[in-house]
Amino acid sequence: MARCRMASHVFVTRPLPAPGIGLLSDSGFEVRSNPEDRPLSREELLAGVREADALVCMLSDRIDRELLDSAPMLKVVANYAVGYDNIDVGAARERGIVVTNTPGVLTEATADLAWALLLAAARNLGAGERMVRAGEWTGWGPMQLLGEPLQGRTLGIVGMGAIGQAVARRGKGFGMEIVYFNRNRVAPEIESSLGAEFVSFEELLRRSDFLSLHAPLNEHSRHLFNQQTFQLMKPTAVLVNTARGALIDEVELVEALQQGRLAAAGLDVYEFEPKITEGLLSLDNVVLAPHLGSASTLARGDMVRLCCENVSAVLAGKPALTPVPV
Ligand code: GLV
Ligand code: GLV
Repeated sequence: MARCRMASHVFVTRPLPAPGIGLLSDSGFEVRSNPEDRPLSREELLAGVREADALVCMLSDRIDRELLDSAPMLKVVANYAVGYDNIDVGAARERGIVVTNTPGVLTEATADLAWALLLAAARNLGAGERMVRAGEWTGWGPMQLLGEPLQGRTLGIVGMGAIGQAVARRGKGFGMEIVYFNRNRVAPEIESSLGAEFVSFEELLRRSDFLSLHAPLNEHSRHLFNQQTFQLMKPTAVLVNTARGALIDEVELVEALQQGRLAAAGLDVYEFEPKITEGLLSLDNVVLAPHLGSASTLARGDMVRLCCENVSAVLAGKPALTPVPV
């Protein structure tokens, strides 16, 4: 029996920062939201989408065939993230469900965090902080925690989309040479404004003193960094990852760091997030952040607005603002 529904239902899997999801109830939608600041269990997620016309979900929510099959009314999945490897986009498309993400609004925040990690890893900030907090610092020392300079060194960027370009722009300010690898070469105007040189992946590995990852996770990029690629990198190189953990084979990264085949790493994302691969925690040359790339008040607020606008557009029968690329 068909039920008469006055308003479209939106299901939101987690409380969101200001301006908040009230934007959607103000637009006349019936919003149901996980009131607790924790990821929903699989059962809760499946139950939550059953009557939903729209879903606002987090990167920690797995949106697969099973879930889409249990959501017969669903028209739009608005991911509160730019990366959308948590969503089976093909399965959504088969069912006529639009998938959206939040590009653009978190570009600068994520580039800032990549630099925070790069600088922290280059200058032993993590080890230094731990030393001070542990009460083990006995005073300034001429040989204490010597790090690597940035000026004149080569910054390699894997994935030259908006975030990769924002990282490159900052690198110019630090006086670095910029090389990049991307599936497609970017426009010559962009290359020349960034002073960035397009190179093969192997050349990038060989030349980079600092290497920052900004590629999406998919079947081509999973474990792009592994034992073989670490062999090609300089033993003095610093690897920074603010993209997705599984771009790196984390067990092999731990081995490379332990064996001195890489100098340091700055990580914001993890292969088995939020689980941290064994060995990583005891390495002093690794800076570990808890997936904070987009975590600025401005970016997170703009992400809320963009998710809500995408939901409103699709439920009004209009094109989404930022559908994920086909
Ligand atoms: C965060 O990781 C995002 O993809 O937005
Ligand atoms: C260090 O603090 C210096 O003054 O050289």
